[in-house]
Amino acid sequence: DESVTVLELSQAMGKTVTDIIKKLMQLGVLATINQEIDADTASILAADWGITVEVKKSVTAEEILAEEPDETDEDLIHRPPVVTVMGHVDHGKTSLLDAIRETNVIASEAGGITQHIGAYQVEIDGKKITFLDTPGHEAFTAMRARGAQVTDIAVLVVAADDGVMPQTVEAINHAKAAGVPIVVAINKIDKPDATPDRVKQELTEYGLVVEEWGGDTITVPVSAKARQNIDQLLEMILLVAEVQDLKANPERAARGTVIEAQLDKGRGPVATVLVQKGTLNIGDVIVAGTAVGKVRAMVDDKGRRVKKADPSMPVEVLGLSDVPQAGDTFSVVTEEKLAKQVISERVNKRKEEEQKRTSKVSLDDLFKQI
Ligand code: GTP
Ligand code: MG
Repeated sequence: DESVTVLELSQAMGKTVTDIIKKLMQLGVLATINQEIDADTASILAADWGITVEVKKSVTAEEILAEEPDETDEDLIHRPPVVTVMGHVDHGKTSLLDAIRETNVIASEAGGITQHIGAYQVEIDGKKITFLDTPGHEAFTAMRARGAQVTDIAVLVVAADDGVMPQTVEAINHAKAAGVPIVVAINKIDKPDATPDRVKQELTEYGLVVEEWGGDTITVPVSAKARQNIDQLLEMILLVAEVQDLKANPERAARGTVIEAQLDKGRGPVATVLVQKGTLNIGDVIVAGTAVGKVRAMVDDKGRRVKKADPSMPVEVLGLSDVPQAGDTFSVVTEEKLAKQVISERVNKRKEEEQKRTSKVSLDDLFKQI
């Protein structure tokens, strides 16, 4: 839909409006001074005078923001995997996340209150893993509805005394749809009525064949309650991550996703973000959804103030003008003008979508009444 008026064309080509209109008539086009001429017609017309027309697409601020810097493989370094825990109600997702966190709390921190920021990192033999602390299903659906993919690996928790249940199947489908590998944690093996083999059997019905039966699904029997085999689960996650060869360039403007956000009485809008590319620094100006602001302070999962956050690191960010939504992407911007344009485009887009939704609803209502 690129077009130009006769007047603009005459100015750009250094010809009179009459010249242009005459040429157009020769081509069989009757035009006035303010007539819109499409790119093809303009090219044909210009060619007659030996002028080449370059068609420039109109670019939105969103598109400018989405532009990626040139990168070579040498710019990329390994980054920790980002893991989501999913599974059926009461199968032990929260208990497992707690067990992982506690197993990893170093002595000096024991007794200290660990800040809850919706995501945390653990470290095993110098290798980090990022866990999203949000309920897996919600995280997946909210994020995926916005087109954000944050998870590298899904840990599927299945209680050994209960087996594969409806939300287990849902979780498998979510992970498959997102193309994310699954590591199965067969939980509650401390229970007398635990039957891990039955779980493995049931999993085969959904295409997950465990390794000892010739498949490639990694399963780890664990007890979140008795803190059993948690280390082994973490090792398996690292193994899968190694195969994935996850990399990111830390030397560029940061980009990532909002994991959760709220309005804090004392601190204003607070967003927990996951940095996915680049390094986020204090003083950076970021756009997150329709919020903008200069990063005033950052707090890590241990409640410590940090000056920077590198790829796969979750941090709380202070300094935003507004509360963004979970699943919103954030980007560092160097020009405040671009940030403003992006936000106005996003606000307009949201309004349009809202209008579409409401007009659809009223039409549906109308038909219902008929
Ligand atoms: P929702 O968030 O409600 O879906 O549940 P969840 O999957 O987070 O399960 P949660 O961690 O809340 O655990 C549910 C119940 O199972 C709690 O009573 C836990 O104490 C218990 N539980 C979790 N893990 C284990 C385990 O390894 N062994 C035993 N015996 N009980 C467990
Ligand atoms: Mg829970």
